[in-house]
Amino acid sequence: MRKVALITGASSGIGLALCGRLLAEDDELHLCLACRNLGKAEAVREALLASHPSAEVSIVQMDVSSVLSVVQGAKQVKQKFQRLDYLYLNAGIMPNPQLNIKAFFFGIFSRNMIHMFTTADGLLTQNDKVTSDGFQEVFETNLFGHFILIRELEPLLCHTDNPSQLIWTSSRNAKKSNFSLEDIQHTKGQEPYSSSKYATDLLNVALNRNFNEKGLYSSVMCPGTVMTNLTYGILPPFVWTLLLPIIWLVRFFVNAFTLTPYNGAEALVWLFHQKPESLNPLTKYLSATTGFGTNYVKHQKMDIDEDTAEKFYQTLLELEKRVRITIAKSDRAI
Ligand SMILES: NC(=O)c1ccc[n+]([C@@H]2O[C@H](COP(=O)([O-])OP(=O)(O)OC[C@H]3O[C@@H](n4cnc5c(N)ncnc54)[C@H](OP(=O)(O)O)[C@@H]3O)[C@@H](O)[C@H]2O)c1
Repeated sequence: MRKVALITGASSGIGLALCGRLLAEDDELHLCLACRNLGKAEAVREALLASHPSAEVSIVQMDVSSVLSVVQGAKQVKQKFQRLDYLYLNAGIMPNPQLNIKAFFFGIFSRNMIHMFTTADGLLTQNDKVTSDGFQEVFETNLFGHFILIRELEPLLCHTDNPSQLIWTSSRNAKKSNFSLEDIQHTKGQEPYSSSKYATDLLNVALNRNFNEKGLYSSVMCPGTVMTNLTYGILPPFVWTLLLPIIWLVRFFVNAFTLTPYNGAEALVWLFHQKPESLNPLTKYLSATTGFGTNYVKHQKMDIDEDTAEKFYQTLLELEKRVRITIAKSDRAI
């Protein structure tokens, strides 16, 4: 039987590169593209089938910033498949990013230069907004919508005979000090992206704790700095064009500059081949590229407290309960 991999955010950037790379590894795979824009998804499907005619590629419409859309999309997935082998939780946003120019120039001449280039720590702030569900958009898109998706797809993912894998696209930008259990949506701060990625790392730990016995394993990775729509939102394209020659040089010292979506997908593909039971839940897997362009995967121990992870997971379950009551009420009203 063909293995099935569902990928959110497959319509561009790292998710799109991942689709091509997975089919290059196993062209018998069935890829299910979970995308909000059906036109884009259809174009991706056609391109993938043109290069991998023996593959199967299907599409499910899903906007991960809307719980109702996730529930409806998951319903279609359950109608199509008996089980999922891989669920790549990759869709993500960094809206209205602002670069802190002062911190950037200060960082260049400090001992923290490599750390700054690797993690963008302290360099980026974002302006978040509230979705129609009433959540912070970054929180709902990068984390909560995906959490609901996992909960909806549990019957397809939990099999003790042959484990399934959840693989999250997190970030080196995930920072403990940007996350608080008292403000999980980061309503009060200016770094919702970093908070949402730290929340992803926490959830990953809690999911392993609660689901490994049921045959479901979770891992987190970071693609490095990749030139995609997301990064082109940070600086105007012409500035990137000016910076790129310098960045290519800096890559001899900072292997986090993977730059292309193909390179950025390295750890996602590596995880595809791993026995999930052999992975350490407290490790983040990092795509890296040498100055000469060779890709490899680095392992990084995460700064995670398991009790905080469990408390966060329980908070998400509570939030889910409330959302489901609201959805049930609006269903009755229709
Ligand atoms: N680029 C980097 O340097 C970098 C570094 C670390 C982590 N990441 C992470 O990598 C992941 C992929 O990002 P990328 O760099 O490839 O950026 P991208 O090219 O902007 O791709 C983002 C993908 O997410 C989808 N998406 C966004 N909001 C969505 C929503 N509400 N519902 C469904 N899909 C949605 C987009 O769909 P549309 O095509 O419809 O917009 C697109 O397919 C993200 O989780 C990001 O945080 C990126």
